[in-house]
Amino acid sequence: MLSVTLSFFNKVLAQDLGNKCKALQQSGSQSVKLSRIFFLTPLERFMSRTSSRTSLSRFLIEQTRSHQTPAELRFLIEVVARACKMINHQVSKGALGGVLGSMGTENVQGEVQKKLDVLSNEILLEANEWGGHLAGMASEEMDNAYQIPGKYPKGSYLLVFDPLDGSSNIDVNVSVGTIFSVLRCPDRNGEEGDLGEEAFLQPGTEQVAAGYAIYGPQTMLVLTLGNGVKGFTLDTEMGSFILTNDDIRVPETTAEFAINMSNQRHWEAPVKRYVDELLQGKEGPLEKDYNMRWVAAMVADVHRILTRGGIFMYPRDSREPEKPGKLRLMYEANPMSFIIEQAGGVSTNGYQRIMDIQPESLHERVAVFLGSKEEVERVTGYHSE
Ligand code: F6P
Ligand code: MN
Repeated sequence: MLSVTLSFFNKVLAQDLGNKCKALQQSGSQSVKLSRIFFLTPLERFMSRTSSRTSLSRFLIEQTRSHQTPAELRFLIEVVARACKMINHQVSKGALGGVLGSMGTENVQGEVQKKLDVLSNEILLEANEWGGHLAGMASEEMDNAYQIPGKYPKGSYLLVFDPLDGSSNIDVNVSVGTIFSVLRCPDRNGEEGDLGEEAFLQPGTEQVAAGYAIYGPQTMLVLTLGNGVKGFTLDTEMGSFILTNDDIRVPETTAEFAINMSNQRHWEAPVKRYVDELLQGKEGPLEKDYNMRWVAAMVADVHRILTRGGIFMYPRDSREPEKPGKLRLMYEANPMSFIIEQAGGVSTNGYQRIMDIQPESLHERVAVFLGSKEEVERVTGYHSE
């Protein structure tokens, strides 16, 4: 009944829009043109916006039917998306919400924690701990695995996240985001008690879902369940994520790179060579001019690459030789690699596919080269020459 009503409304709207277009062609006055086309009644606007859209919930239910996505995983993604909406709300308040600035504390990696880092972490924990879909969580902002409180049932998944990526951008009103990765909890053979770090130490190939939310000019959720990459835009009036990018693909070739050039003197030889060739442009061996972009929030740089191609690099360098790069394997590099690969791109640490790396600790770091196939393969090739 509802769909009949909706299709009736669609027909009426299409007819009405057609009439308005005719009026536009016939009318000489600019203001008449604008008023006829853009000043729809509230009902017209609502119906034209909502009737043909796929919400995240509908997409997930259809996935359950077509790809047998378990209901528990569907619920998990919905809960994470809801938490991201709450984080978005806090981020958007800025100075008015008193949420900017630092906490005066450091996380396990010695980075200063912003108030919004801690708040976002709390939001994700609280949203996910009670639903019975998780066996445990781990986060950039917590030293150890988070235990699901005993009063709640436990589920079969593990959730790992960077609650607010690109924190240095928060206070200057530039895009930040939330990155997450979902793994299955290994069988504990009936063992009770705290979940140890080992349960999380699975290569990226074991991820069953990964995604990020970007809090930018628009808030978007980008998601993979292992069969392509979908993009959802938050309709802030309706409060729901709407499917707007049905099949995100990374172009194979590109002329755009992203790297923090200020670290150039610390890089290893293959990266120095590659970036030097990029900078030589048309006159160099790559015979084309390249453009450079660096937002300094992985979420934003990767989002740009998913939208129009490019290569993102955060190589290891000689400043802290014991650390293989800056970015974290479990909750930055692995989920982004899963998304990039699902979109037809490539992701390596210069030597091997990132998703094949066996993690040894929760907060392990890794060098990252990801994005358009041709360029990532080129710089990876230089590492083995
Ligand atoms: O989470 C680490 C991070 O903020 C990434 O989001 C970003 O790509 C990178 O660090 C920026 O590093 P830098 O400040 O060295 O440019
Ligand atoms: Mn981060």
